[in-house]
Amino acid sequence: MATRSQTVKKTLKNATHGDVTAQSGKRSSHITPPKGKLGVLIPGMGAVATTFVAGVEAVRKGLSRPIGSLTQMGTIRLGKRTEGRSPKIKEFVPLAGLDDLVFTGWDIFEDNMYAAAANAGVLDRYLLEKIKPFLEKVTPRKAVFDHNYVKKIDGPNVKKGKNKMDLAEQVREDIRDFKKSSGASRLVTIWCGSTETFIEPAAVHQSVKAFERGLTQNDENIAPSMIYAYASLSEGVPFANGAPNLTVDIPAMHELSRASQAPICGKDFKTGQTLMKTILAPGFKARLLGVSGWYSTNILGNRDGEVLDDPGSFKTKEESKLGVLDHILQPELYPELYKDIFHKVRINYYPPRGDNKEGWDNIDIFGWLGYPMQIKVDFLCRDSILAAPIVLDLILFLDLAQRTSELKGIGIQEWLSFYFKSPMTAPGLYPEHDLFIQLMKLKNTLRHLRGEQLITHLGLEYYD
Ligand SMILES: NC(=O)c1ccc[n+]([C@@H]2O[C@H](COP(=O)([O-])OP(=O)(O)OC[C@H]3O[C@@H](n4cnc5c(N)ncnc54)[C@H](O)[C@@H]3O)[C@@H](O)[C@H]2O)c1
Repeated sequence: MATRSQTVKKTLKNATHGDVTAQSGKRSSHITPPKGKLGVLIPGMGAVATTFVAGVEAVRKGLSRPIGSLTQMGTIRLGKRTEGRSPKIKEFVPLAGLDDLVFTGWDIFEDNMYAAAANAGVLDRYLLEKIKPFLEKVTPRKAVFDHNYVKKIDGPNVKKGKNKMDLAEQVREDIRDFKKSSGASRLVTIWCGSTETFIEPAAVHQSVKAFERGLTQNDENIAPSMIYAYASLSEGVPFANGAPNLTVDIPAMHELSRASQAPICGKDFKTGQTLMKTILAPGFKARLLGVSGWYSTNILGNRDGEVLDDPGSFKTKEESKLGVLDHILQPELYPELYKDIFHKVRINYYPPRGDNKEGWDNIDIFGWLGYPMQIKVDFLCRDSILAAPIVLDLILFLDLAQRTSELKGIGIQEWLSFYFKSPMTAPGLYPEHDLFIQLMKLKNTLRHLRGEQLITHLGLEYYD
């Protein structure tokens, strides 16, 4: 009689699918190779942007490692578990290399990247000194800025123009100038600017035509971040939004992105407390543990914290943070467990902490027969250290998307939801917030593009 292990081995030998059912059923997509330099344009040269650029240079010089970056350190399993095929993601899909990246940015302050990084106080001076000559060369272009959209800050390095369309033209000129002077063959823009005040979608956002009319008429529903986005997409440059502002999450930008084959994604980098929430909440739901309350409070003392001290900017952030639990816990499907959850998020500006935020969560859960329990999380995190690898991955993946026949014309790149607090989706579709589903979506997209079978984790065929 065959032993259990012999049976398993025989089954594996005969298995035609493995736990890789749901064949992608297609040939691989055409992906143009990443030849030449990739230019990175960053509106907002603050803590996140400088930690990212300094980090890339430190890694290039062999001074540090790109920890937290899926594109640099992540692997992807291909085929059956028995095949032993798990290449690095960057070897599986053709991504730009770190040596190919060149940078520019805009800011309302005149500090170059070295001064801005020193001011942000995220990275230690010892590291910054080693890359000082490189960072000093990245100087800010004049920003498109209006104090009414970010109330807590003001600065001198700001463009003047006769209307918002004129300002958009000036940004387009900056983009062309950078492409020429840097010799980049491709570009990507990523918004690392401050969180703007809360804006509801309005008529001017509904089509490119309405938006362009609004630009010439200085419509107040057009925020500065939208002007950068409009300029980038009009130049055929993909755009990622790291803040919770609407920016590219309006029909006009979806339309422009598809027409110019410049992919878009957003909103709001998923770091810190929300990252923890999207790790913990799927676990509670998986085990059908009820949640009656989730109280989250943060103290942070960087410029981002100061900006978020303004009620308008905080409202934009609050909306982004609050949506997460509802989508993960699905109270409409599990009313006994999640219908009455009390969810509160606070952010308090507390200068002594600088960028080293502290996020507390008090979670009231209940189990078998309704017995209550509590969980306390105290996350002493470094916001920009968590955000920098996200910035890197988004740039490399958006560039990949633009070189990929199947992705470049679809507009929103939902497969990049993994990186965002409020992932953008096609209209009418609810966003996927569960970090592990998001990761599966991202990896299956890459498998699909390369004509590899999708992984469902079914696995029954190993045992029949
Ligand atoms: N650090 C994180 O973990 C994290 C997570 C999610 C989202 N974010 C968002 O990323 C953004 C950047 O965060 P940060 O910590 O680097 O903030 P920061 O305040 O250090 O940097 C933002 C920079 O943007 C500049 N700026 C503001 N408006 C501008 C404009 N119109 N044009 C050009 N520059 C402009 C500011 O002068 C500032 O230097 C914020 O919106 C923040 O909410 C950060």
